[in-house]
Amino acid sequence: MEKILVLDFGGQYNQLIARRVRDQHVFAEIVPYNRITPEKILAEGYRGIIFTGGPNSVYDPASPHYPQAVLELGIPVLGICYGCQLIAYIDGGTIESAGETSEYGMVEHRVTDRDCPLFKGVPEKDVCWMSHTDYVSRVPEGYSVCGVTDNCPCAAMYNAAKRVYGVQFHPEVTHTRFGERLLRNFLYDICGLSGDWTAGNFAESAVSHFRESLAGKKVLMALSGGVDSSVAAVLLHKAVGDDLTCVFVDHGLLRKDEGDIVERTFKGRFGLNLIRVNAADRFLARLKGVTEPERKRKIIGEEFIRVFEDEAKKLGKVGVLAQGTIYPDVIESGAGDADTIKSHHNVGGLPSVIEFDEIAEPLRTLFKDEVRRVGIELGIPYELVWRQPFPGPGLAIRVIGEVTEEKLSVLREADAIFREEIMNAGLERDTNQYFAVLTDTRTVGVMGDARTYGYTVALRAVSTDDFMTADWSRLPMELLAKVSARITNEVKGVSRVVYDITSKPPATVEWE
Ligand code: XMP
Repeated sequence: MEKILVLDFGGQYNQLIARRVRDQHVFAEIVPYNRITPEKILAEGYRGIIFTGGPNSVYDPASPHYPQAVLELGIPVLGICYGCQLIAYIDGGTIESAGETSEYGMVEHRVTDRDCPLFKGVPEKDVCWMSHTDYVSRVPEGYSVCGVTDNCPCAAMYNAAKRVYGVQFHPEVTHTRFGERLLRNFLYDICGLSGDWTAGNFAESAVSHFRESLAGKKVLMALSGGVDSSVAAVLLHKAVGDDLTCVFVDHGLLRKDEGDIVERTFKGRFGLNLIRVNAADRFLARLKGVTEPERKRKIIGEEFIRVFEDEAKKLGKVGVLAQGTIYPDVIESGAGDADTIKSHHNVGGLPSVIEFDEIAEPLRTLFKDEVRRVGIELGIPYELVWRQPFPGPGLAIRVIGEVTEEKLSVLREADAIFREEIMNAGLERDTNQYFAVLTDTRTVGVMGDARTYGYTVALRAVSTDDFMTADWSRLPMELLAKVSARITNEVKGVSRVVYDITSKPPATVEWE
């Protein structure tokens, strides 16, 4: 498979660069600059290198540098922002601070050299996205300037013979209107790639890879019914069949009918070797009297592992532990300290008492939407592939205060009504996450002629790209009216429904 190296110098758009490359059907890997040498780049067979941006100035002694040898490998290089300045610096050019004339935001870019293959099909004048203080004031020998802006005399430069290119602007940001075309030119014309990266190819080669590497081994994985673990399980099942055993821990904190749906889908439809562990009593017993959100999370995480371990012990020694880890969980930033590598495990940490020889993480190179595309390729139902996120601690963090069976059942019914009405209105793809919360506030109501004193249910719906920030969804008033009427009529014990109109920040998506 053809692949591109995104050499990470700590810029804020680095994941976006990899995404944009993959959008062009070319596989891209992000590697911190201090984790790979030029020799290794050559040995790994990368067909092109993209230097990312970064927050530093090249003359700052603490700034990330890279050996000049990378420009002599014969592999095409594209430097973006700091990456462009670094190329100029290590190849003998000069960088200066733009001071007052530093650019930030959308700026007009003019192509000054139509022979530069990077600008094939790019309009002579168009808008680019700039975010820089320093700029290349003198290009290295053998390079020429091919693009400018009013305030930047070198918005783009290149050395055709060496196939080294640099742009001061950010082609990966959609505000750079010609960015997609520029990246395409780099990948297809300059690096000479053919675009062999598709979800279908990925699924096919992953299945055959694991069929070979896991042949004859027993594989165990925790299946939550979430997108990542579902796709990983189906993929591995295609590779090793009944040698894969999935353990589905039903902690009793799932939404209405969810446990049955997971069991029916994976055991029934896909024929997976699935063990469903009904552990609601264990979890509820441990949560008794607990009201503090972080404590709830911790208890659930720990208990999850205990239950999983107990099941694994019954199975005896397993050769391989599989996990649905995805790419954003494993990417480290080049600007970060080596010790801060994020080790994310979607079962909440590696079980310590299970003996296993190796870990299989079939999705560790994929972004979330790529996982979804692979899921569709593997024939996983649309509802599952597009399932909205559901937190590991489940409804426990949506029941405010102590979690009890009675409160969970009130919440399940209210939540099911809300979700059903969103689906009926065809809004499930317009709002990214929507659910009900059972607050610990009881209020007075009136039903018939009688006074009631019941729970207050809060509805939450958010629109977001990445869940780091989110806006509350402007759901239609009629929909909210219908949901409120249905919940107060159909769910015993609820006397009031409110809608949460807080964004993140300052609030979070979940209430706890
Ligand atoms: P917050 O509440 O942090 O939520 O704004 C952002 C996204 O993360 C989900 N979330 C969790 N997911 N374990 C998970 O697997 C958790 O403990 C957890 N807490 C929040 C939340 O549902 C939202 O999609």
